Amino acid sequence: MLFSSCFVAASALVGSAFGAPAQHSERAAAVVYDSETGFTFAEHKVAYTLSASIAVRVAVPSSAQAGQPYDAVFQIIVPNQVGWAGIAMGGSMVYNPLLVGWANGQQTQASTRWATAHAQPQIYNNAQLQKLTAGNRANGTHWQFTVKCTGCTSYQGRTGSTTTLNPKGGNRMALVISNGKPQQPSNANSNLVMHEGPIYWTQSFPEGANANFGELVRRNGGTTTSDGEVPTNGSVKA
Ligand code: HEM
Ligand SMILES: *[C@@H]1O[C@H](CO)[C@@H](O)[C@H](O)[C@H]1NC(C)=O
Ligand SMILES: *[C@@H]1O[C@H](CO)[C@@H](O)[C@H](O)[C@H]1NC(C)=O
Repeated sequence: MLFSSCFVAASALVGSAFGAPAQHSERAAAVVYDSETGFTFAEHKVAYTLSASIAVRVAVPSSAQAGQPYDAVFQIIVPNQVGWAGIAMGGSMVYNPLLVGWANGQQTQASTRWATAHAQPQIYNNAQLQKLTAGNRANGTHWQFTVKCTGCTSYQGRTGSTTTLNPKGGNRMALVISNGKPQQPSNANSNLVMHEGPIYWTQSFPEGANANFGELVRRNGGTTTSDGEVPTNGSVKA
């Protein structure tokens, strides 16, 4: 392969690496403190070529319990040659929340989708995103988004039964990327173009437990009922 252009070389590798889906064994996440937002994240670097990876980070309230819905903050850091990236919360294209994002100039877009077939997913209104005031940017090498999601960690799957991601364990996810931008990058609801992938891994959540989750969400311009702080009365719900 001729490495006359970094971009061409990287694009070629994206195609070949996705020919045989990489399997990442179950393992602990790295603990990453993000001084920009104040969150402590559980980070997995998900390799999509031999030399390039996407950092997938999740922060959850320390108070989140298995089997109960809770808000989570997702941050992904993506090399610029990736046109859009998506995370499937249940490791499948269909019947689970899909979190997608891309760069729009020096800003980013993020949105939740839902698919029942291997075709253009629908906008998914059962999960709501708040783009935090920090941690969203695009520059000469990378783009990254930081969003609080209400509704990403609990959903009704194909059979109608509820699946909840385990805040105290590992959750199997899938990542897809596209070399092409969405059709209208300035529109968070834009149609997407076909992707490469998937790559599967098990995202460990406990390393991203935040005792002051609610306070951190509010400090970054968001709202949450998954406070993490010790409730002063019995009405605080996940
Ligand atoms: C234009 C939008 C999309 C189209 C046309 C599309 C189409 C497809 C097709 C045709 C496959 C099967 C590929 C194969 O069997 O080789 C597939 C698989 C897959 N797609 Fe998509 N897709 C779209 C968006 C998305 C999004 C937004 C996500 C996740 C964030 C996603 C995640 C996956 C995953 C995880 C698979 C692996 C198989 C599975 O779990 O069903 N796709 N997609
Ligand atoms: C570009 O953004 C990435 C991801 O946020 C960051 O790691 C990197 O330091 C930034 N580069 C510059 C020159 O600011
Ligand atoms: C209980 O706590 C919640 C959340 O902080 C608050 O909205 C609510 O007003 C409180 N209720 C009482 C009776 O103090």
